[in-house]
Amino acid sequence: MTLEEKASLTSGDDFWHLKAIERLGIPRIMVTDGPHGLRKQATATDRPGLGDSVPATCFPTAATLGSTWDPELIGAVGRALGAETAANGVAVILGPGVNMKRSPLCGRNFEYLAEDPLLAGRIGAALVAGIQAQGVGACLKHYAVNNQETDRMRVDARVSPRALREIYLPAFEHIVRAVQPWSLMCSYNRVNGIHASEDPWLLSTVLRQEWGFEGVVVSDWGAVNERVPGLAAGLDLEMPASGGRTDARIVEAVREGRLAEAVLDTAAERITTLILRTAAALESARAAGGGYDARAHHALARRVAAEGTVLLKNEPVGPTATPALPLAAGSFTAEHPLALIGEFARTPRYQGAGSSVITPTRLDTALEGFIQALGEDAVAFAPGYHLAEAAGKEGQELSAQVLRANAVETARGATAVLLVGLPQIDESEGYDRSHMAIPTEQVELVRAVSQVAAATIVIVVGGSAVDLSWDGAADALAIAWLGGQAGGSAIADVVLGAQAPSGHLAETLPRRLADLPAQLNFPGHDSVVDYGEGVFIGYRAVDAMERKVAYPFGHGLTYTDFTLSGVHMRHVGDTGEDTAEVRAVRARGPVSAADAEGQARVLATVRATVTNTGQRPGAQVVQVYVGRTGASAIQRAPRELRGFTKVRLEAGRSTGVELALTQRDLSFWDEPSQAWVVEAGRYEVSVGFSSRDLPAVLPLEVQAPAPVRGLRLDSTLGEWLGHPVGGPLMEQALAGTLARLRQDRTTFEMMSAMPANRLVAMPGMDLDPPAYRALLDRARAQEGPAVEPGDGPGGALPPRD
Ligand code: BGC
Repeated sequence: MTLEEKASLTSGDDFWHLKAIERLGIPRIMVTDGPHGLRKQATATDRPGLGDSVPATCFPTAATLGSTWDPELIGAVGRALGAETAANGVAVILGPGVNMKRSPLCGRNFEYLAEDPLLAGRIGAALVAGIQAQGVGACLKHYAVNNQETDRMRVDARVSPRALREIYLPAFEHIVRAVQPWSLMCSYNRVNGIHASEDPWLLSTVLRQEWGFEGVVVSDWGAVNERVPGLAAGLDLEMPASGGRTDARIVEAVREGRLAEAVLDTAAERITTLILRTAAALESARAAGGGYDARAHHALARRVAAEGTVLLKNEPVGPTATPALPLAAGSFTAEHPLALIGEFARTPRYQGAGSSVITPTRLDTALEGFIQALGEDAVAFAPGYHLAEAAGKEGQELSAQVLRANAVETARGATAVLLVGLPQIDESEGYDRSHMAIPTEQVELVRAVSQVAAATIVIVVGGSAVDLSWDGAADALAIAWLGGQAGGSAIADVVLGAQAPSGHLAETLPRRLADLPAQLNFPGHDSVVDYGEGVFIGYRAVDAMERKVAYPFGHGLTYTDFTLSGVHMRHVGDTGEDTAEVRAVRARGPVSAADAEGQARVLATVRATVTNTGQRPGAQVVQVYVGRTGASAIQRAPRELRGFTKVRLEAGRSTGVELALTQRDLSFWDEPSQAWVVEAGRYEVSVGFSSRDLPAVLPLEVQAPAPVRGLRLDSTLGEWLGHPVGGPLMEQALAGTLARLRQDRTTFEMMSAMPANRLVAMPGMDLDPPAYRALLDRARAQEGPAVEPGDGPGGALPPRD
């Protein structure tokens, strides 16, 4: 390959194609959005073409997929996505997106899986593995810290190393380590001052050296700041096309010796590998005529939409006091029809806006779904409220009062199913919401209907958390998210019990935005957003601040009941059926970011038996959280999700589950030692069905070596005295002073908190500054490598007088 050819490979040919090198038989491949279906532009690809794509299955959005808590099921979605990608001659589908839902207001939350990195990582890995099993590539996005749409192309996300390591990176990390996505997309924003598209630490040190990523790093569309530093930092491919301008700059930089040709070689090689590895799948899809089973994919989309629907509340109603849901299909007739209320039943919201918009192969409405199941006569529909996207449809010309009054009459004495939620304009790529409310017109409708209906069932649609302070008006309440092209029939399936809802919340539904500390810094200003809340997003925040929530992370009801029994922990390697418990484990010292094996070392396994005690078959998610109970050196969330598994059981049946707890699961990211550290002390391992329904709480005593903090010039007297090497030296050197100080506890505590370099500069000390410096050098010499190189922020050695 010539220098020019290599450079040419590192940027797009047009909006969606990479460049070919015909001379070498390197074909021109196409990449395309993602993430919940294929958005393959139907016409000229030399310009953007939102809303103009070939039909493809619009699967439920990520908000729904994350809520399934079911990697196996989502693996099937991945395989279907991969099949459609290959069938359409596309080499890479741009997804999944695994950014954290930092705020309910992020306009793109519907495209993201969870507020928790473990959940997003597991579901994301299933998608990637499924897609790539079809011989085409996935593209993990948007790396990294892209958690808002406001000013997304310029904003500087300022985030601590700990929050990065514990919250914003681990979903990417897990997916890279577990299933090697063939490509990964850097985000638009800056991270701690550096453009994600040219950050060598993110793109090379962390991604490649620590996690072992082998694929292609591609820019988000238009994310390149400066191409040459970007390439040097690890950004292989620029998209879309740059008109050859940046290729020329790369050539020039190599010629002038500003860029090592080896860097370009590596990028070109990675891109060539990607192109060639997709060739076989694309060729066989072409030979097979490029089809896929659209009916089967629609059926899968329908099942997943139902499985990802979260039943939040299901109160007893009527004389028999049975739960409001599911409804018995046979009980609706022409005389007693089901009252189906809400324009969303006729004008579905099933996906969000922006680059992910799919042209569906077909589109089910809830209205059709109910009519199909119950017969036309047994369904009475009233739109109930206005929706801009339904303009022109029958009834939409009426006033809000008349629309509501008609709906109330339809619902009077009947079982009412209401669909309410976020209008389309409220959720899009490119901008954020400013509040969590659904339109007042809809809330008033729910309240009015609940006054007259025999039972009020409310289904919420929308891609992110909404205010549910009106939920007292609902006997049953479920959130269906944005359920894709079969979302409408899935709603009918769930309500009528053809399919049990078995989703659990992948995001906290807070009572108020103000209960989330991230809101203090969302979306930032002047192109800066400060992640001042650190690791405290979602349930970590509301739990730490002891806030009530509307519905907690992990919550989800279904049509049967489950219990947990025999919850206990065992040492790894224990076999056999005895239930000897373990209540103490021994962890290792600090583990480096690159040491995957050390992190994955299993310390204990949690075992439990789950029983379906209800009358119907059903699914349940067993969740394991770990929290520290003793005092900690750092602020920690009361509990964090460390494992989960979804079980399906016939009525009356039981099954055992087993979840491992690893060294990493007990660790936090220790900024001074830049490593994963386990603190010794007491922990609680909690097992249950949501972050706030944890019937089994097991104490766990953890032994671990204390991380040795290196001594610095500004280490406090207390830190010196507690140091294994420095302590004895200081005791000796400062013997007289210490004896005096120890006579009075308060004085001693006060002095212990002072940096020793300041202390020794004061009159009347046994040590003077030069002697102190010598003592530090002695301690450091004995300490070996576990010392900090610098002098610390207060590290000047003041003159004695
Ligand atoms: C989005 C990406 C998308 C790309 C291509 C960008 O604006 O952030 O998620 O894949 O456009 O459409």
